[in-house]
Amino acid sequence: MESLVVQGGLRLEGTLRVDGAKNATLPILAASAMTEDTVHLLDVPDILDVRRMADILDMLGCETRRCGRAMTVSGRSMRSSEMPDQLSKQIRSSIFLLGPILSRFRQATVTYPGGCEIGLRPIDLHLSGLRSLGVEVREEGGVVHCDGTHMHAGEVHLDYPSVGATENVIMAAVCLPGTTTIHNAAREPEIVDLCRFICAMGGKVQGAGSPTVVVDGVKRLHGVTYTLMPDRICAGTMLAAGAITGGSIELTNAPVAEMHAICAKLREMGCTLHEETDVLRLESPRRLLAFPILQTQPHPGFPTDMQAQMLALLCVAEGTGVIVENVFENRFTHAGDLNRMGARIICSGRTAIVRGVEGLIGTHVIARDLRGGAALVLAGLKAQGETVIEHAELIDRGYDHFEKQLCSLGAQVRRTTDAT
Ligand code: UD1
Repeated sequence: MESLVVQGGLRLEGTLRVDGAKNATLPILAASAMTEDTVHLLDVPDILDVRRMADILDMLGCETRRCGRAMTVSGRSMRSSEMPDQLSKQIRSSIFLLGPILSRFRQATVTYPGGCEIGLRPIDLHLSGLRSLGVEVREEGGVVHCDGTHMHAGEVHLDYPSVGATENVIMAAVCLPGTTTIHNAAREPEIVDLCRFICAMGGKVQGAGSPTVVVDGVKRLHGVTYTLMPDRICAGTMLAAGAITGGSIELTNAPVAEMHAICAKLREMGCTLHEETDVLRLESPRRLLAFPILQTQPHPGFPTDMQAQMLALLCVAEGTGVIVENVFENRFTHAGDLNRMGARIICSGRTAIVRGVEGLIGTHVIARDLRGGAALVLAGLKAQGETVIEHAELIDRGYDHFEKQLCSLGAQVRRTTDAT
């Protein structure tokens, strides 16, 4: 087991470059399997979920190679349409391979995917979207068999704008003859990045970033060199680290245009933010102010992936604030650990009510999911004394050497590894 040990009370200051986005990299890696040519990806984050996705691609017969921040994927020798069982259970985004595998082989077998324990996270929207394209789906003992023999372009209505389902349907439709229209599509910036990538490979996708996405089928996709968009959630987490320590942070390569909701909330808390094309500067007050309410929503609303970090900030802000989690049904598991550090959070269903306290006290806490784990690290930066966050491997799923990044800003965070 990995743990992060945080020495609290230091003010963070300095400049950091934002890495490529996890939620763009994962579907783009999956989409790379749709061509037999080689794909070169640049600015690929070195995180656990990306390593696992590369392992899955390798097991399907693709060849992935990493060299520093670049990765090549060659789908030429891809032969299997069956997703490896154990790895799919570890990473939810393995489900993104359903669309690409169907596109290549017209057959796909996947195990129900894993990922963070933040709710039920079913895949019904993915499957109903694919059914609208003529895919026959059979579910048996946790395994989903998809038969795409009679796949065709068509109209897809998503009951809810699911990010993954939107991406899967787009990928399944890219090489189908005719026009596919997805209604009530998710609008997240990472979907726009995926579609830019698909278009760079020769696909035809319009409307990404809006609720209606139109895919005109092409015969084949070709290789490409592509730079991934920067990670708005990692960027937001680093701003939050600056804010909770009363610090001053500059981010370069920041996806400024995609971060309005996050910046607006930080401003409500008393922070000053200067925005340039791809640079963000944050100055924080001596004590943060509580915002009255934050509600997570699909994009362009406030991202659920920043909710836990904002909860950590609210714990030490002046006043009382409320957070409502509308996207996932079980995403306050970090609240209990924050309370053990001295916070005053009351949770009821999807709502957390927080009465700000002046300070937190370091103790042993447990990361229970990726962003909740990051929130505990943020709380540790503010707390008096030492905070030990167990199960840091969950944080490694989405942050590229988190402790090194924080230390480069003046934090004291070290990693320990325990044999158990
Ligand atoms: C993606 C992101 C994740 C982010 C989430 C919401 C990646 C790799 N992950 O996850 O970081 O938190 O978007 O912004 O991009 N749902 C169903 N049925 C389905 C699919 C989803 O009911 O078939 C529900 C989920 O349980 C959840 C909600 O819809 O409550 C949103 O899920 P979705 O947008 O699909 O998120 P993911 O693609 O899993």
